[in-house]
Amino acid sequence: MKICVLPGDGIGPEITAEAVRVLKALGLKFEMEEALLGGCAVDATGDPYPEATQKLAQAADAVLLGAVGGPKWDVYPREQRPERGLLGIRKQLGLFANLRPAVLYSELANASTLKPEVVSGLDILIIRELTGDIYFGQPRGIEVRNGEKVGINTMIYSESEIRRIAKVAFESARKRNKKLCSVDKINVLECTQLWRDTVSGMAADYPDVELTHMLVDNAAMQLVRNPKQFDVMVTGNMFGDILSDEASMLTGSIGMLPSASLDANNKGMFEPCHGSAPDIAGKGIANPLATILSAAMMLRYTFAREAEAQHIESAVKKVLAQGYRTGDIYESGAKRVGTREMGDAVLAAL
Ligand code: IPM
Ligand code: MG
Repeated sequence: MKICVLPGDGIGPEITAEAVRVLKALGLKFEMEEALLGGCAVDATGDPYPEATQKLAQAADAVLLGAVGGPKWDVYPREQRPERGLLGIRKQLGLFANLRPAVLYSELANASTLKPEVVSGLDILIIRELTGDIYFGQPRGIEVRNGEKVGINTMIYSESEIRRIAKVAFESARKRNKKLCSVDKINVLECTQLWRDTVSGMAADYPDVELTHMLVDNAAMQLVRNPKQFDVMVTGNMFGDILSDEASMLTGSIGMLPSASLDANNKGMFEPCHGSAPDIAGKGIANPLATILSAAMMLRYTFAREAEAQHIESAVKKVLAQGYRTGDIYESGAKRVGTREMGDAVLAAL
């Protein structure tokens, strides 16, 4: 079980360290090696996804990633931005299926800005296509047309790309509450018409799954109006980026949301949904739970170690029940802890 650990930038190293401690405490035989991705890699090598990291990531069974990016690199040319490294590794490893579960732990019902009755018991899975769409479509760029600058990006999906993500979505729904909502924008975008037609065409193979379709603007509204109507949602790269951030707030904090990005053989990269939080980097106060929960997803999806995955998830639930809170999920009366202490609490609960 080879794991490539990419701490990245900002709070990345702090939160990854806690997830690594949790993995090591399980008593399984992991081989872990660290490498550079993102801004730290740009600083060291000029490349956000350097050769050495590519080799390690390709040879590993799974990648554990903290977060990349920060204001320091926002002024760099696009090829040298940390985000380029992240998109590069997703594309190179073929990690087309991004699973972002939004689960509300009952202990955090008050941390959400939504009314407890709207979010209590929430358990939805957003499946975001991760290697296509406007993120990678050509042509792209900024050029001069008719004497002025124009910015261009291309939204594009092939049938095969849609089919392989839809298959993951139907199969995931089958293992859950058997409801799948596909999100598109067919009233305006042809690309998403192909998306809807292709997903619909597969429904007959999954008669046990109830398939519905929703326009993305409506989906954004329904997610805050009545999120519990959803079980599994599937959508393209850009809509999924936006809807998954929105869904995270239903759970109280984006600091709680893990993610898995999988290829066709369940090799994967596991990372929190949140970013590098440069404003609190190095202060030891970031919430490590999303990264710890991402490690649990690694055990479940790549290593087929469901029991150990559940141990970690139960340990997280326990520390929340014990009242441990980082700043992002703090409520009065709780025990305010930093990153390391939260890691300690999870280890003790394990
Ligand atoms: C995410 C992030 C990334 C994305 C950024 C950092 C490139 O927002 O993983 O959701 O847009 O995919
Ligand atoms: Mg995002």
